[in-house]
Amino acid sequence: MIAGKSILLVVTGGIAAYKSLELIRRLRDSGAFVRAILTKSGAEFVTPLSVSALTGEKTFVELFSLTDETEIGHIQLSRQSDLIVVAPASADFMAKMAHGRADDLASTVMLATDKDVLLAPAMNVRMWDHPATQENLATLLQRGIGIVGPNEGSMACGEFGLGRMSEPSEILAAIEDYFTPKDTPLSGLKALVTAGPTHEALDPVRYIANHSSGKQGYAIAQALRSLGADVTLVSGPTQLSPPEGINRVSVTSAREMLSACQEALPADIAICAAAVADWRVAEQSNQKIKKTSGEDTPTLSFVQNPDILATLAKQGPKRPGLVVGFAAETENVESNAKSKRKRKGCDWILANDVSPETETFGGDTNTLFLIDETGTDRWTKMTKDAAAEKLSRRIADKLKLNT
Ligand code: C5P
Repeated sequence: MIAGKSILLVVTGGIAAYKSLELIRRLRDSGAFVRAILTKSGAEFVTPLSVSALTGEKTFVELFSLTDETEIGHIQLSRQSDLIVVAPASADFMAKMAHGRADDLASTVMLATDKDVLLAPAMNVRMWDHPATQENLATLLQRGIGIVGPNEGSMACGEFGLGRMSEPSEILAAIEDYFTPKDTPLSGLKALVTAGPTHEALDPVRYIANHSSGKQGYAIAQALRSLGADVTLVSGPTQLSPPEGINRVSVTSAREMLSACQEALPADIAICAAAVADWRVAEQSNQKIKKTSGEDTPTLSFVQNPDILATLAKQGPKRPGLVVGFAAETENVESNAKSKRKRKGCDWILANDVSPETETFGGDTNTLFLIDETGTDRWTKMTKDAAAEKLSRRIADKLKLNT
């Protein structure tokens, strides 16, 4: 897959630069054409001569070298490549990219290019962990820049932690993956996923919530995305970062979640994985409810929240083609889930046991049963990511049958 591809390799400053020589050798062995740019600090670690010896091409260092600009301008350098790989990518270079600085050849190419970019960061663990680097990383990820690594391990500076550049074999695998045609059976389809808990306010400072972490819904959104779907994730309050390439709409209460879902329609697929609060207080207090002296405690009365799943399943012409709900149960899981499927009018129900001993809430694994019109399919215990992938594949198969 890499054979015949043209890779522009940018080597920035860092002790890991020596590994880039091995990367060039491996890329050449795989049949790629490699051109390299060394930043000034990159050239402190490896010489243009050694890089050229391996690429078999001229190595570019300075921006305004007249000969370089006549032989091949910086725009040409990026235009003639299929992918730009930055290895090692220093903290400074990531900062420059994130802020759009262009004060040398490498950073100018990054700003001028419309090609995809893969970074292999390498730096001291404290630099990697620093909020400035993490914010730059988030910006770059948001822009669709690919990242491989960094790995955990002992560093040239004697410290231990995240920051070692990925091995050449891992970077090569990421490049191979980039050029592998993706299986995207859901491309062209719109999916709506709800995730996380809802918070129902009692007064301006207190709310009712539940233990949902949102992990399963986020994993489903990501799995649908990787099969090519255009995903809107309507999320209650969670600790999770917005997944790449997904439109996340953050909401707090059940009523907000419902209106965000309705705004996301029409959709081909709707998956309700949120643990929506069934009730909210009948009258939310505008002021903080005061603790009175003595033994008096407030009495709360509740009203039902809208059922988002049932509402989506009964949207008439706007009903998504496939509506999937979850049934979190602590007893009679299968029979309760079957009647829930009928009651809510959804096509599939994924049922799971959420008794405290299963550690499903907040954990990384899930044991699910998929209930459809034909019966029950019991899945073995698996990670939430694996369950999300299995569900997404199953959706792709179902929609293929329907076409
Ligand atoms: O009725 P129960 O809460 O057990 O139903 C669970 C399923 O219904 C889940 O898919 C959940 O996301 C959805 N649900 C909803 N709106 C509610 C309550 C549950 O969408 N108000």
